[in-house]
Amino acid sequence: MCGIFAYFGPQTNPLEIVIKGLKKLEYRGYDSWGVALKTNNDFLIHKEVGKIGDFSFSDLQKIFPISNSQLPIIKIAIGHSRWATHGGVTEYNAHPHWSKNKEVVLCHNGIFENYLKIKEKLIKKGYTFRSETDTEVLAHLVEEYMHESNFENAVKKALSEIEGRYAVILISKHEDKLIAARRGSPLIIGKNGHDGEYFIASDIPAFLEYTNKVQYLDDDEMVIIDVSGARFENMRTHEKVNKRIVEIEWKVEEAEKGEYPHFMIKEIMEQKNTLYRAINQSAEKIHEVAKAIKSARGTFFVGCGTAGKVCMTAEYLFSKIAKRHINVIFGSEFKFHQDFLTDKSLLISVSQSGETADSLEAIEVIKKLGGRVVSILNNEASTMARLSDIVLPNKAGPEKAVASTKATTAQLAICTLLAYAMVDKLDEGEKLLIKTASQINDMLNPRYEDHIYKLSEKIKSAENIYIIGRGLNYPMALESAIKLQEVSYIHAQGFAGGELKHGPIALISENTPCIALVANDESKSEILSNAMEVKSRGGYIIGISPENAEVFDYWIKVPDCGNCSPIVNIIPVQILAYQLAVMRENNPDMPRNLAKSVTVK
Ligand code: AGP
Repeated sequence: MCGIFAYFGPQTNPLEIVIKGLKKLEYRGYDSWGVALKTNNDFLIHKEVGKIGDFSFSDLQKIFPISNSQLPIIKIAIGHSRWATHGGVTEYNAHPHWSKNKEVVLCHNGIFENYLKIKEKLIKKGYTFRSETDTEVLAHLVEEYMHESNFENAVKKALSEIEGRYAVILISKHEDKLIAARRGSPLIIGKNGHDGEYFIASDIPAFLEYTNKVQYLDDDEMVIIDVSGARFENMRTHEKVNKRIVEIEWKVEEAEKGEYPHFMIKEIMEQKNTLYRAINQSAEKIHEVAKAIKSARGTFFVGCGTAGKVCMTAEYLFSKIAKRHINVIFGSEFKFHQDFLTDKSLLISVSQSGETADSLEAIEVIKKLGGRVVSILNNEASTMARLSDIVLPNKAGPEKAVASTKATTAQLAICTLLAYAMVDKLDEGEKLLIKTASQINDMLNPRYEDHIYKLSEKIKSAENIYIIGRGLNYPMALESAIKLQEVSYIHAQGFAGGELKHGPIALISENTPCIALVANDESKSEILSNAMEVKSRGGYIIGISPENAEVFDYWIKVPDCGNCSPIVNIIPVQILAYQLAVMRENNPDMPRNLAKSVTVK
């Protein structure tokens, strides 16, 4: 989704910092971008449709030469990468937006839900609109209120009228002040050791090279930054808020591609280690969650997209290992189940980013009813973490490719631990996961990649790919489809193996690739029969399995990991999806139309 970046401080190259920051936010997904720099008495604004690519500060200087004498002592610059919601992908709709007399310039993530009402009011007052966005209303509204008040008070008054979920940064022509506010979309403030230097961004890696000292803006909070420092306040009550400074432990390299051509393959390969880290949970906390599940009147695993498929896998793990039913609901559907919920309900939210709007909405719903929230999260500093009663951290490190890989297997590992803990067999679960981690370490070698590459070559022009699985591997068939769709753009669909004969088998024609996810368990003979049904109708069978079988036209070996088969079976599909994306000249890190964290509903 959209990315926000702002700089406030003494450095002479603020736009260079902003452009660099926006590049670091590229992974979030966007279709246009823009920057604004405050000069002595005006703003320089530049916007473009498309990716920032190699665009650099020197390109900007060619467009508008900037000399230091034009700039105030304190430099203020903001930038934005836009993922279109209201209004098409055009330069006009790209941010920053400015007010009628260019008194106010701002960037915004999220949606101002009541913008039409405010727009009508402003049009009656003589304001005209340059863009089709919801964002522009706030710029004009602040300027309108600046007729009677100063910038800060005008922002407060304007925001009190705005409804919706958003993160917003605003600057004014006449004041060396940067104001940011959030309700539902992430904003993090970075504070440098140098006195008076601040960064604001949608995500930490954007400014991590300058500072690892951060302050998180919570919902309904705003920060006002000026030469005297940063003041935090509650947007509703206007009471002062004291913010803790948190030191981030990530290393800059963790959020960089390093020797790899793309984040996606880097993150797939990191699974050699990330599983070990995920397993290293506090036993006390795992038991506490298991106890909470046992005492809850209804446990609901909630996630979206890939995280939703992890939740579905958890349902099978809990049934198989813990002999216990848990409910699974996708974040966007959760509110439609609220009639079943009580203050004894437990929500277990699975999310990489911890910022997914649909999952956050589910948390809001359960919190209103007085229920408890446990989160399985990669981003421990996210909104979801702060809303949860207990957080089980994935510890996968920053995941920047849009396609989730290492966070997924970490989430699966934690769900497996929980299922074992339910029957007091946490040790057994840990041992199995440690064995699985070491087998993944052996599996992820260049020869393995080459073997999958040969398959990628064979199927790169396929129009459809189907994936089948049973039991624990049925949700992974669905997840495989997501992986293939999002980066290769090949139509891919996952099915429960047994469901094929009830309709989807009609889709199979000569040479249609069909991946069978096989585990060495009670589902094995049946999934092989389902694969045979596909093969008999001309399908090309790719078996991902610990053992070869006659029905396979192409076999990708995976270790036999018992109840951890979903973890090992998804990894070759991740590699396949990546390779297909590269062969088809797609950018696997930033697939079209997608965003890393989906902060709109
Ligand atoms: C994963 O490959 C997808 N990009 C997407 O489905 C993702 O899992 C989903 O948007 C949920 O994100 P979250 O884990 O950050 O909540």
